[in-house]
Amino acid sequence: MMRSHRAGDLRADDVGESVVLCGWVASRRDHGGKVFLDVRDVAGVVQAVVDPQLPGLEVAHRLRHEWVVRVVGDVSARPDGTVNDDLPTGAVEVIAREIEVLSEAEPSPFPLDDRVDVDEVLRLRHRYLDLRRAPMQRNLRLRAAVNRVMREAMTEQDFVEIETPMLVASTPEGARDFVVPSRLRPGEFYALPQSPQLFKQLLMVGGFDRYFQIARCLRDEDLRADRQFEFMQLDVEMSFADQEDVLDAISVAVLAAAEVSRPGAGLASIPRITWHEAMERYGSDKPDVRFDMELVELTDIFGDTDFRAFAGADAVKGLRVAGQADMTRARLDALTERAKALGALGLVWMRVRDGGELESPVAKFVSESEQLALIDALGAVAGDLLLIVAGKRAMVRDVLGTIRLDLGRPPVSEGGLRFVWVVDFPLFEETLGEDGRPAPMHHPFTMPHPDDVERLESDPLSVRAQAYDLVLNGWELGSGSVRIHRPDVQQRVFSLIGFDPTEAQQRFGFLLDAFRFGAPPHAGFAVGIDRFVAILAGEENIREVIAFPKTQSGVDPLTGAPTPIDPTQLRDLGLRLSPPKE
Ligand code: AMO
Repeated sequence: MMRSHRAGDLRADDVGESVVLCGWVASRRDHGGKVFLDVRDVAGVVQAVVDPQLPGLEVAHRLRHEWVVRVVGDVSARPDGTVNDDLPTGAVEVIAREIEVLSEAEPSPFPLDDRVDVDEVLRLRHRYLDLRRAPMQRNLRLRAAVNRVMREAMTEQDFVEIETPMLVASTPEGARDFVVPSRLRPGEFYALPQSPQLFKQLLMVGGFDRYFQIARCLRDEDLRADRQFEFMQLDVEMSFADQEDVLDAISVAVLAAAEVSRPGAGLASIPRITWHEAMERYGSDKPDVRFDMELVELTDIFGDTDFRAFAGADAVKGLRVAGQADMTRARLDALTERAKALGALGLVWMRVRDGGELESPVAKFVSESEQLALIDALGAVAGDLLLIVAGKRAMVRDVLGTIRLDLGRPPVSEGGLRFVWVVDFPLFEETLGEDGRPAPMHHPFTMPHPDDVERLESDPLSVRAQAYDLVLNGWELGSGSVRIHRPDVQQRVFSLIGFDPTEAQQRFGFLLDAFRFGAPPHAGFAVGIDRFVAILAGEENIREVIAFPKTQSGVDPLTGAPTPIDPTQLRDLGLRLSPPKE
């Protein structure tokens, strides 16, 4: 038997037990006659007390941080006055009888103390050491729990777990593909899947009416706090199902996962908002509803204003920033610059003074009745700061939505878990593409809203999609849609977006062909697991919940990937580099 107990599990009840522990030396204090060791394993840390004068225990003088040891000893209550209430094992210590060194360790390149901030590249270069730190242990265990609970939730709802291939033809998620050269067919390439999208739809044609997979997806896109090249999705598809069925099934899984991370949080259901309402009230299709500060419609108030900045504007909207009337001029100037950088011509600010008087460089241009209506619409009281933007509606929403987040957004670890379903996305982007054609907002297989389908050709930008997102604390957690299963509707959408039939056939022909053989109506969804776990763990960056992530610039400092490959490997693949790499 290698060990009898886990170090971090020992408690007062264990006093008198003879134990065998294995773990790392987290710290060593040499106090005259005695050596105190903190022995760390997955369960935590316990103090071992060694008398190095005893035969076989003189090794205690040599031990260093992160050496791996096996300690045989007896659990004893700590003497009066030495109990450590901050440590779960703080009531006890282990009086060592034997110590065996299992592994020596060189000095760590950084302290493995959770309270010390360490350069991230250094952490990633020695990720195996970083993983020993409590936050990484906690985050990856949380991740495992989230995966387990979501898998159980899907299985209990009769979803079947099916794996789809990693070497595929191009997929339609709209990012760049990572490609893999084929050795057997020189000059030809596989793509790594951006998602299992097309395969899961084929599974529906194949008669599996409820599929799920915890799927690895790969996209060659710029990395950010919430984006990695490789990430995981809880990927789901169901047949003979509509939007409601998908929302229900996914809600069960994500709420179960939220419950493991915050037991008793009592999340029972997920509220909904339409895309249009989210854009108008929060200036974002991923509204962070942990705080209010909503965008308020003021367009009508300034319908026939004399104030040139607002006159004739497509939209005028405002924010009430509670209690911030005394914001410094420097900060207001910075907010104005921010608004301009986002496309606004300017940002109007007004301080609400006692008695409801508005103080602002432009107050004299705004009539008294407009001022009263403004205060009323925004619910403003003395001490508030009001921020107003006028111009094209899309820009106004975007600018105020961003400023709202700048001013109000709590850190990711605060404000609880606030899920929202955003439904009724538009089928196409808000403006036509450079070719004068609409571009799909989700992907080209998304079913138009049945009430809008007749306007596909006449007024495409007004057509809603049966597409929906799940948002958590202002992050896009997942998205999905009802799919087009009828070739005639698919053809209409392809023609609209200018998808040339030959190209459509070339890229997705296998799916379109499959649909000719009896395609069930189907719909699906994918939850981004990395993002989900990051929020549950209270981390701002998904790298903190991934065992071996890439840095922002896409490298793995541990393995050195990406690396050049051997000339013979290149030759086998029929590849020549041009120009040759230095
Ligand atoms: P979508 O492209 O919206 O939809 O992706 C679904 C969710 O996956 C997560 N995600 C990412 N997470 C980390 N790094 C990335 N680079 C990254 N890209 C996406 C997000 C996102 O909401 N096939 C469709 C789903 C469907 O229609 O069923 C799809 O992949 O949390």
